[in-house]
Amino acid sequence: MTEVIIVKNSEQAGAIYARCVADLIIQKPNAVLGLATGSSPLTAYQALASLVHQESIDVSQVHGYALDEYIGLPLAHPQSYHATIQRTVTEPLGLNPEYVHVPGDALQGAPLSDGERIAQAGPNYDKAIQQAGGIDVQILGIGTDGHVGFNEPGSSLASGTRVKTLAEQTRIDNTRFFDNDISQVPTHCITQGIGTILKARHVILLAFGESKAEAIAQTVEGGISSFCPASALQLHAHATIIVDEKAASLL
Ligand code: GLP
Repeated sequence: MTEVIIVKNSEQAGAIYARCVADLIIQKPNAVLGLATGSSPLTAYQALASLVHQESIDVSQVHGYALDEYIGLPLAHPQSYHATIQRTVTEPLGLNPEYVHVPGDALQGAPLSDGERIAQAGPNYDKAIQQAGGIDVQILGIGTDGHVGFNEPGSSLASGTRVKTLAEQTRIDNTRFFDNDISQVPTHCITQGIGTILKARHVILLAFGESKAEAIAQTVEGGISSFCPASALQLHAHATIIVDEKAASLL
């Protein structure tokens, strides 16, 4: 079932995510969280960190699995998703860094020509998620073209975690994080697949602003199609889409 919640702003959305995840951790101290980068989840992480501290919630057993990562950036590069998750989630929440995983970690130092390592990284990541018990709550943002993680339009709706080339438009969109110099933007990424995301027990997708309105309309009311990868959430048993009025304007 896909439920849509329309809120006034990202703070309200963040508060809904935070309460849901805080209650989960209270009931299940070794909960497994699916983590995303991008600007959309930031207020949700801030709200969760506040609840964790205000209510002294024990997060020492919580595990985290990030959605995606660039390939070719050192872990410490400020734009690597490894560093971003550490800065926005692991540190503010006080998670054990050893329990927080990013799919590119296994590929550090691997040249793209190392076919064996590249081919195994995705399936190994999916295996690790399942061995941890599967993701309880997966948070997601959405691209203006309906992409989730780095699953661009055309991605198989059954895909697992895998290495992909980045779409040219996504590289152009992301030059703003790399001194507006496209030559610094990595050419490849590793991303959880749509099939991986659909295995999470609960998915919470957040979208704010007019630029997301078309993608949200396609996701919620369009046909299920790889042209809008997020539309696969219609197949999910428990997907919550939290949007502000602008992102909901075409519904
Ligand atoms: C990138 C990320 C996605 C994210 C999207 C939207 O492409 N790989 O995971 O959802 O951007 O980002 P934002 O939330 O900043 O709009």
